[in-house]
Amino acid sequence: MSDTIAKTRTPPRSMDAEEILKFADNLVFTKTGKHLDNVQEAILLGAWQGQKYPKIAQEAHCSEGHARDVASELWKILSDVLGEAVNKSNFKSTFKRLHISNVSSPIGKAFVGINNINVCADTFQSPEVPKTRSPSAPENTQPEIRQDLRDAPDITSLFYDRTSELATLQQWIVHDRTRLVAILGLSGIGKTAIALHLLPQIQHQFEYVIWRSLGTSPTLHNTLKSLIKFLSNLPETELPASTDELLSLLIDKLRSHRCLIILDDVQTILSSGQIAGNYRPEYENYSTLFKRIGETCHNSCLIVNSWEPPREIVALNRENARVRTLSLDGLGAAAGEILREKGLLEPDKWEALINTYRGNPLWLKIVAAMIQELFSGRVAEFLKYDTLFLGDELKARLQQQCDRLSDLEKQVMCCIANEIEPVSISQIIEKVQLSPDDLCNALLSLGHRALIEKQEQDNQALLSLSPVLRQYVISYPVD
Ligand SMILES: Nc1ncnc2c1ncn2[C@@H]1O[C@H](COP(=O)(O)OP(=O)(O)OP(=O)(O)O)[C@@H](O)[C@H]1O
Ligand SMILES: [Mg+2]
Repeated sequence: MSDTIAKTRTPPRSMDAEEILKFADNLVFTKTGKHLDNVQEAILLGAWQGQKYPKIAQEAHCSEGHARDVASELWKILSDVLGEAVNKSNFKSTFKRLHISNVSSPIGKAFVGINNINVCADTFQSPEVPKTRSPSAPENTQPEIRQDLRDAPDITSLFYDRTSELATLQQWIVHDRTRLVAILGLSGIGKTAIALHLLPQIQHQFEYVIWRSLGTSPTLHNTLKSLIKFLSNLPETELPASTDELLSLLIDKLRSHRCLIILDDVQTILSSGQIAGNYRPEYENYSTLFKRIGETCHNSCLIVNSWEPPREIVALNRENARVRTLSLDGLGAAAGEILREKGLLEPDKWEALINTYRGNPLWLKIVAAMIQELFSGRVAEFLKYDTLFLGDELKARLQQQCDRLSDLEKQVMCCIANEIEPVSISQIIEKVQLSPDDLCNALLSLGHRALIEKQEQDNQALLSLSPVLRQYVISYPVD
């Protein structure tokens, strides 16, 4: 939005209208990655003030036909983002309802949007404080949203693109009523960030929204207790003693209320040194949680963020349409915005840099800081070396992931890393002393961990490592 243009072309705006425009701008940005332009702003202001299209077109300095075309596209974007029909006639009432629900709580500041979204402790609503009305609900008739987002990290940086992934997640959760969604991918690829940015788009569909991180390795018993305490408002002394009873109580709650639970950092309860998806001792019973949530009839949804899928989720994803997996890839060209933000020079070299670091936002942030410090932002100078600089921070991140591998996986990773060109499975069999069965298990597991890349050539699958992982495995052999 250009303030100068807005000030000269539009009538003075009330505080309400300013806030609503900002609110709409955030929603549109979520969906399209672009901010509102002048015509879109004029349409929203006009609709807010009850103006007709000829007047709106006059304000926007365009033809009435153009204003109508832009408006029709804009209503579609807003409807998609919000999961409910928005048009010129209901825009004001809908947005008043949504906006109020997001900003009026005495302690809540969960303003829907990208840069303004705040889902940290100050949006936590304990059962005692006033609750947020479900924006899709008529006043006084529908359930209200209770949120416990104390565990969710605060958003402190900008978020780019992910338009199609957000649309997919919204489709699965809101329209297809998926019960369990796993968001998977390498560390730093953006699982937590996308879940945080998904929340404002879907939270109004739920009565309860809870975010928990498993980063501190809580037992299932403790996780269930903490979820149920929030969902049922019961004091700890009145909760059932056994884990099975707690699990049954949770499932009852998921049936009687539409709840959204996000479990972040789920890889923490999964074991190291084994094929992907196995549990650490003492955490095996989480498998029952995932199975029951995936298999039981209810209208709630559990989102699981993890470096690798727990084994039940792989099986459920195969057999059960209400369990889905989103494997998060790199950001692609949109990652250029991260490089711009970090003040890198030579934009014509950014594509090569993004490709080398596979669009992983965290890797790119780390490397961009390094390029700034070592080469004053000159990307070409950084890229001209044959060896990739990893730096201590990136190395430590990669180590955390590679330390989790089984011996078989380590052997296979080293074998692939030592080849310059992508290799076929039969070439790997020739080089490593593994039975085809063991090799297949190791490859499947590496695939679940998103550590190998696969391409098809001449009717055969060729496997390779990304440049960053290859450099890491060559420099610091993992076996
Ligand atoms: N779409 C995006 N646009 C800009 N920055 C992003 C985007 N997605 C993620 N980031 C940034 O990249 C970094 C890593 O993101 P995030 O913490 O969500 O990754 P993660 O997959 O959850 O990693 P981990 O598995 O280690 O928890 C953060 O600084 C985040 O702000
Ligand atoms: Mg994370």
